[in-house]
Order: sequence, then structure tokens, then C-alpha cells
Amino acid sequence: MSPMTGEPMTHDRARCPATTAPTTAGAAEAADDPGAAPDRRPPDWGEVEEFLRQFHHEEPAQPVPLATRLARVREEIDRTGTYRHTTPELEFGCKIAWRNTARCNGRLYWRSLKVLDRRAATTPDEIHRHLLDHLRVATNGGRIRPVISVFAPDTPQRPGPRLWNSQLIRYAGHRSPGGEVVGDPAQVPFTDVVRRLGWQPSGGPHDILPLVIEVPDDRPRLYEVPREDVLEVPIRHPDVPGFDALDLRWYAVPAISHMRMSIGGVNYPLAPFNGWYMGTEIGARNLVDADRYNLLPVVADLLGLDTSSETTLWRDRALVELNVAVLRSFERAGVKITDHHTASRHFLAHVEREEALGRPAPTDWSWIVPPLSGGITPVFHRYYDEDELKPNFFLDDDARARAEGRCPVPHDVPSPHEVASPHEVASPGDGAQLSSNEPVVSSPAGS
Ligand code: ARG
Repeated sequence: MSPMTGEPMTHDRARCPATTAPTTAGAAEAADDPGAAPDRRPPDWGEVEEFLRQFHHEEPAQPVPLATRLARVREEIDRTGTYRHTTPELEFGCKIAWRNTARCNGRLYWRSLKVLDRRAATTPDEIHRHLLDHLRVATNGGRIRPVISVFAPDTPQRPGPRLWNSQLIRYAGHRSPGGEVVGDPAQVPFTDVVRRLGWQPSGGPHDILPLVIEVPDDRPRLYEVPREDVLEVPIRHPDVPGFDALDLRWYAVPAISHMRMSIGGVNYPLAPFNGWYMGTEIGARNLVDADRYNLLPVVADLLGLDTSSETTLWRDRALVELNVAVLRSFERAGVKITDHHTASRHFLAHVEREEALGRPAPTDWSWIVPPLSGGITPVFHRYYDEDELKPNFFLDDDARARAEGRCPVPHDVPSPHEVASPHEVASPGDGAQLSSNEPVVSSPAGS
């Protein structure tokens, strides 16, 4: 499939797609884009060595001894400024990046991660094909498989490709002139950006956002995600028929696509990964948060609850029924999902297994305790190790900015045309792509 037309990406503030109306202004200079600039530093040797040691320690049956591999990698870095992970190193690195993700409660299954090595893909068309392939492999007819697709890393010679979208699948948010939103309110700014890049949505509540693929020396390009590659589940309540009229649905595969994976000192800016949903991500956050679908008042109304006082606990009662609807709907559709009780038990089994192996299991309590019934899940009642370990996933400020429909370049600095390089406005030692080292997988309290 050929790309849809995209407006040129530029950080000339007069033409920035995040802040201006559609324009047919001339082609942008790719060099204007700081997010596309390579991190020119060679990998940190300490990280390289630590990773390779860990790999050989945890997977000792390697054809090449550690000392030989270390010497070869050292030589390769001296010669090229970086090194290339072997396939087994890459697979191990991806799994460990997941295992180290303090905000993920699905880590019991880290060994089963399927790694798709897409490092050879360079064109937006190829990348698009692989991203759709990722969805097909992950969806698996509803028997969701944890999958990661790894595209080319940043190197001193060339930055890796990126995707602006925060997930491979997301519903657009359309703000009407009257101010109300059709679709996902969280996606309104990003939806505005892709419109400026040329997307023409139908304006419905479940429009799948197009993918914005950016490779070095080219403008970002838009690609549709064909509906047939998006498995969705209609949300119905098993005994409240009125639910059907709400026309609720959610997609089956949560695939985070804007986080940088860091393995042994090498950064992979495009490495989308997915697991399966835990019900509360949808039923207690996406459909419930006041700045998302905000459905509790609607559900309470449907259930005939007394909303005149907080002490009727109408919110809590509506919340439980909505979560019943999500879980039962996925089950009925044959789409894998987990509930927060089972997921919490599995997570503790993971922590115990890791501890028995003498490894810490870094965990962020505030993300692991589910947003519904926290205190009646076992994960609530203990403390965790909080150290940040690598390999890991990081959400950089510029990736977050793109996914939120903001320009990654602050507009209060001179435009790139006025300075030699946008990087020169960054603080010293602050890698343009490495400004935030905060690992994130989903939003707090399990979403
Ligand atoms: N919370 C995000 C969402 O609701 C997805 C984050 C990843 N979740 C997962 N189960 N792997 O879309």
C-alpha cells in the first residue's frame, strides 16, 4: 500500500504540523528535525559489558565465549562507533527489557515474548508492512501473543526510524466546533496533527488513527491501518441489554509504539511491543477517566442508580458493572484478556520466581496496583524493589511530544533556520533523544 500524502515535517514554527493549519509549503529539510538526529555517542562501554556478561551468565551455552565476544564488540565499536547485536543477543535483550519494566504487571510471561527482527527495514513502505504483520502475529485470531518488532537502532551514522503514534492501534478523537469530542478525547491533539498531515477521517467514534512513519532524510508519512487487521470487541453487559445502545467497543491488541528500547548501550527508537489487555485498562481507565470516555454517569444512568449523593457509591457500582461488561465481552468474543485478580496473582508469582533466582524484580507499586479493588488484590499489601535496571524501555520527551500532538522542539527558542543546529539549544550533556529516562509502559494504576 502506498503512503497517504503527508505534509512536510519541519520545526520552522511557521510550518510545524503540531501548531499550524494544513499548508502546501515547500519540502522540509530533514536536518531541521532534532528528533531525527542521531545520538552520535558510541554506546557506553559499561552498559555494553554489563549486558554481554548478563547474557552469557543467563544463557551460558553460547558458541563464542564471552571474552571473545567482548573483544570483537570493542573492536567493532572502535571501527564503526557502534556494534550490532547478534540475533540471540537481541532476543535476550528484548525479553530482559520487558522483565525490567517496573510498571508492567504482565511480566510472568517474559520468556514467551516473540521477537521479530526488522532491523533491515529502511523504507516507510517496508516498515508499514512489518507493523501490520506485527498486528497479525500478535492478534492471532484472538489468542493474543506478546510480540515485539525491532527496527534499526540509532547509530552514529544514521538515526533509526520512528513512529509518532503512541500505540499501533488507537481511536481518533474529533473535537466538534461546539467543543464535544467524538472518539477518544486523549487523541484529539494527535488527530489534529495527522489531519494537518493530510488524513481525512470519517469523523466517527472508532476511526483507527493512521500510522505516522518517519525515516531519516524524509518527511513523515501517513499509512492507514486496514480495518481487517484490527480485531475489536463490542462491549456488552451479560444482563443489562441497554448496554448495546452505547455502541461501546475496544480493540484487542495494546501495542505501545513510541518507547525507546535500550539494550547494552544501543538505542532502538522503534520497537513496538504488545501483550494482552487487563480488563481494568479498558473498564476502569480508558472508558472511565474524566478526560477519556468518561462513561460512569452514562452507565449509572443505564443501571438506574441514585446519583444524587456520593454516598450511594454509584460511581463504584457503575465501575464494577462496566468492568464485568469488558471482561465478559472479550471472553465471549474469544479474545484473550485477564482480570485484575488473576493478573495480580500471576505478577506476584513472577516476583517470587525472580527472587528465588536471586534477581530483583523492579516494581512501581503505583502502576501495579489495579485501579479497581486495589486492596483486595495481593499486590497492594507489600513493598517492592524499585531499582531501575537495563535493558529497559524509556519514554523520551520528544517521543511523548509527538504522540501528544506537540512539536518536539520548544517553540520559544529560535527556529532551526535561525540557529546552526537545534541541538545547540539543549543543555550540555543532555542527549536530544535521551532527555527523559523514565520507563513507562502504561499509565498509573494498571492502565
Ligand atoms: N493502558 C494502555 C491502554 O489501555 C495499554 C498499555 C499496555 N497494556 C498491556 N496490557 N500490555 O491502551
